[in-house]
Parts: sequence; structure tokens; C-alpha cells
Amino acid sequence: MYNVKELIQKAIEAKSKALPIYSNFHVGAALLSDDGKIYQGANIENSSYSLTICAERTAAFAAILDGKRKFKAIALVGDTDDYLPPCGACRQVLSDLCGKEIDVILVNGKDETKTVKLGELLPYSFGEEFLKK
Ligand code: THU
Repeated sequence: MYNVKELIQKAIEAKSKALPIYSNFHVGAALLSDDGKIYQGANIENSSYSLTICAERTAAFAAILDGKRKFKAIALVGDTDDYLPPCGACRQVLSDLCGKEIDVILVNGKDETKTVKLGELLPYSFGEEFLKK
């Protein structure tokens, strides 16, 4: 298993580094690789709005650049009352890079957590298997 509280704490720490200069919506993520390393991510916005990148993807890309290919879990935090779910684009990227079996740990405004498999959040999805002949 792994330390859920530590992963959430790392996501909260990452959230403080977010740059949501237009939306003011701060998001932090912490992605755990299978060797126990944690990769932090935060949303970084851009004056050309569509170039904004979400917290989950900054974490995933940092891990990939560090040579990691296997993952256990990702924690996601925002300043929302309800559990903050990953956006559709991030579900696709996490599915491709981290796999449908990772745990997605959601946190709400009461610091309660809900853990779901990424596959539950992205059923009947596109993936690399469709690109193989
Ligand atoms: N955002 C994330 O970082 N992750 C998500 O899954 C949802 C949205 C960011 C993108 C943008 O900077 C801000 O939240 C508002 O959409």
C-alpha cells in the first residue's frame, strides 16, 4: 500500500505553487510511482488561455521525464466544497501514461477522501491498443 495522507499533503503543497493567474482556481496533484517517488504538479495558466496546463498533466509529464512508467496513485486537491474530479483531458492523459489501474484520490472541502480507479472515470476509452495493427 501507500501513505494516502502523505500523498494528499504533497498535493496540497503543490497547489501552493499553482499559477492560476486568470481563473484564480488553484489545483495541486501528487503522483506516486511504483518505486515510491512522488511527483508534484500544479495548474499553470497562460495569456493564450488554451495553452493552460492542468495539475495532473504537469505531474505526469514530470514523472515521465524522470524515467517513470509505472504508477500507483494520484491525489488531486483544489479549494472546492465537493470532491474535485480530474478534467476529461487529464483522464485521457493519465490513462495513457499511468494506466487505468491507478487510484485517483479525490479530496473535498471537509478533507474527506474518495478513491476511485482511473478506469472508472474513463470507461470505454480510446488508447494505444487502437493504434496497433
Ligand atoms: N484544472 C486542473 O488543473 N485540473 C483539472 O482536472 C481541472 C482544471 C485547472 C485548469 C485551469 O487552470 C483551472 O483549473 C480552471 O479550469
